[in-house]
Amino acid sequence: MNSDSPSDITCDHGPCTGAASDVEAASDVETETETAADGGTTITDPDDEAFDREAFTKVATVDEIPAGEGEGYTVKGIEIAVFNLDGDFYAISNRCAHQRAPLHKAGDRKINAEDTWTEKRGGVNVEDCTVSCPWHLWEWDLETGVHEASGKRIGSFDCVVDGEDVLVRI
Ligand code: FES
Repeated sequence: MNSDSPSDITCDHGPCTGAASDVEAASDVETETETAADGGTTITDPDDEAFDREAFTKVATVDEIPAGEGEGYTVKGIEIAVFNLDGDFYAISNRCAHQRAPLHKAGDRKINAEDTWTEKRGGVNVEDCTVSCPWHLWEWDLETGVHEASGKRIGSFDCVVDGEDVLVRI
């Protein structure tokens, strides 16, 4: 099966329609953690002849995720957030392990259920390679999916750029 088929990918563009529905839809944090901990030795350099393009799923083109921002996608039933840190792309679970906020909303101006917060809240930190959650600012390592203060971990996924395509391995 072609893993790039549209039925595998759902983009979460657009305004947040409500935290409650987002939370109800999130049931895969633990599953994602298992996926990230599979210990695989995937080649992540698209220029390496051993790179297995079929193991990855295209989620976007590079120009669709602005620098310093994130977008949400559902790939193979798993909600992920993909962040662009000045041209380096990272993919983690899109559900904060605290209260399951959608992490791709970090830095947005309206991110709560009532769409009433007007200040930016949370966002990426390029220097530390982290994203802070838009709800209560827990800071997640984009490489490991770890929140250092609590010791909790969410899924993190291989994310590479092949030409103009942003690919993730789920
Ligand atoms: S939901 Fe993310 S810090 Fe609370």
